[in-house]
Amino acid sequence: MAGRVFFHGALANMANTQSNKMPPREEWIDLPAPERIKAIGHRAYVGGQLPKMWYGIGRRQYHFLVSQGLRSHHAFLDIACGSLRLGQFLIPFLDEGNYYGLEAEPALVEAGLREEILFDIAEIKRPTFSHGYDFDFSFVPRFDIAMAQSLFTHLTEEDIQLCLTNLRKVAVPDSQLFFTFFQGTFPNPDGPSHANKGWQYTPEVMQSLVRDAGWDGDYIGNWGHERKQVMMRVSPRA
Ligand SMILES: C[S@@+](CC[C@H](N)C(=O)[O-])C[C@H]1O[C@@H](n2cnc3c(N)ncnc32)[C@H](O)[C@@H]1O
Repeated sequence: MAGRVFFHGALANMANTQSNKMPPREEWIDLPAPERIKAIGHRAYVGGQLPKMWYGIGRRQYHFLVSQGLRSHHAFLDIACGSLRLGQFLIPFLDEGNYYGLEAEPALVEAGLREEILFDIAEIKRPTFSHGYDFDFSFVPRFDIAMAQSLFTHLTEEDIQLCLTNLRKVAVPDSQLFFTFFQGTFPNPDGPSHANKGWQYTPEVMQSLVRDAGWDGDYIGNWGHERKQVMMRVSPRA
């Protein structure tokens, strides 16, 4: 039995995350994404350099989803799963084969599996991952519940539309998507989507993007998020 218990990366992880020091922003913000991950680390890249932001936002998503009806037999899709801030809780919770993660940057998932998922949980639960920026959900046979936590906070309207439109194609009538966004009217960055720059939208703009992609939206708003992102639930329009 002892042979199946291993502590891969645990010590390296502690060393990595006990320091909250970040290099100055101007040194890394314009690097290509894989270089940025190397420069600031897999937690900081997703905005989780502080334990409150890493464990707090992970635990919040997990408790929220269970409170909304997620059960271990459901097929769950983590859109932009990053370095498994949510996966560290949901992969152990879900039945084998029920966790699907899409993430643009493979290095984040690799770091999550290596440094955040403990023991042999990943071998037992067999999560499925896919990578790319084009919101190709063809690796997901079906999903009951999906979450996009702090993804649309980094995307242009065009990319949000692409994500919602492609996801609608693989949704079944009972599928639900929860997503967060920064509510506001502050001018958004110029240029393409960027994982370390922030975009804000009004609920009205979000509702319109949701409707145009074939979903019905239900604004939930405040769910206690550590960075005050608001929540929306959407379901396929019949
Ligand atoms: C703020 S992080 C949030 C990650 C994760 N949802 C969490 O709660 O930790 C945003 C993530 O979106 C990913 N991302 C950005 N654009 C993407 C795209 N087009 N497709 C998939 N993932 C994307 C980034 O690589 C990053 O991991």
